[in-house]
Amino acid sequence: MKNNFVVTPGPVRFSHPTFFLFLISLLLLAFALPASAAKKIIFDTDPGTDDALALMLALNSPELDVRAITVVPGNVTAEMGLENALRMVSLANRCDIPVAAGAQHPLFQKLITAEFWHGKNGLGDVEIPPSKCKVDSRFGPDLIIQLVHASPHEITLVPVGPLTNIAFAVEKDPSIVPLVKEVIIMGGSISGGNVNASAEANIYNDPEAAQIVFQAGWPLTMSGLEVGDKALFTRKYLDQLGQTHGPMNDFTHAVAKYMLERSEQFGSSGASMYDPSAVAIAIDPTLVKTQAMHVDVETRGDFTRGETVGNRHGGVEHNVLHGDRYVIEGVNPVKPNTNVCVDVDADRFLQLFVSRIRG
Ligand code: BDR
Ligand code: CA
Repeated sequence: MKNNFVVTPGPVRFSHPTFFLFLISLLLLAFALPASAAKKIIFDTDPGTDDALALMLALNSPELDVRAITVVPGNVTAEMGLENALRMVSLANRCDIPVAAGAQHPLFQKLITAEFWHGKNGLGDVEIPPSKCKVDSRFGPDLIIQLVHASPHEITLVPVGPLTNIAFAVEKDPSIVPLVKEVIIMGGSISGGNVNASAEANIYNDPEAAQIVFQAGWPLTMSGLEVGDKALFTRKYLDQLGQTHGPMNDFTHAVAKYMLERSEQFGSSGASMYDPSAVAIAIDPTLVKTQAMHVDVETRGDFTRGETVGNRHGGVEHNVLHGDRYVIEGVNPVKPNTNVCVDVDADRFLQLFVSRIRG
């Protein structure tokens, strides 16, 4: 068999042009690797101040490849959320990322918007220029379905708003469930709520959708209030962010400043980094400690609608009627459906955030 190159006592000598093609392919592969190794995510969002911070983190992290942004109503209306998402991808010069509108309201209840916390424009009243990017004409849940089928077992869903779009996608095409790599949601709490005593806002804003998502049967991580309320964006981090400049750096700084001042008005020393936590976990799962448990979403309680009820001990007592009373006859195991984040290395997370955003 003829060798394409000949080994001599000196350096390798090449005798065939295919070797050069081989070399070029190797080089191309080396440059292509970082992009293909990045985790493909779909960011589902209701932007939203902390949504904005989360998106800036995602767009500035080489570990992530944002394949699409789908917009859900929540902090603001669907229309305003779409406008905000388009303006942000434009600011980032990323018109290549499809931005699609999704559901226009929660599945079974009226929308509750949160300009009270996020400012009149949803972005902490920070103005950014109109978008150069165009909206993708596909319906958000359909886009999710298409992208999951196009890259089976490769897409991580990162929903950071009410779970309406994700529930829609699952209901429309349940075959996506085993094809999704994982779902990392910002939402829920196993230790009390932030809209009332029991519920976290994203779950409260569409409990039926959340229950569909939690019961779907895919690998699900819940980054809830246990993470966001521990990771406080304080003046120290804001000052670090203010030392550098650039369009995304300055925008993030201004939004974070609004969030911090709003939190200070309510007696906190920092802004809870809710949505960025889900993105940070996609980048580096070692930032959090998780516990596997079965989570159900309460959809009926007078005081608990929207609560994420986590079964910490993995079982339910089995009661059997004996005459006029029930007798506990054993404990039925319940299968975990969620990795609940129970702790976070807050400083490492916040340092990661600041270092990625700095211009
Ligand atoms: C969640 O509610 C929204 O207001 C935030 O954007 C975040 O997704 C926190 O409870
Ligand atoms: Ca949000």
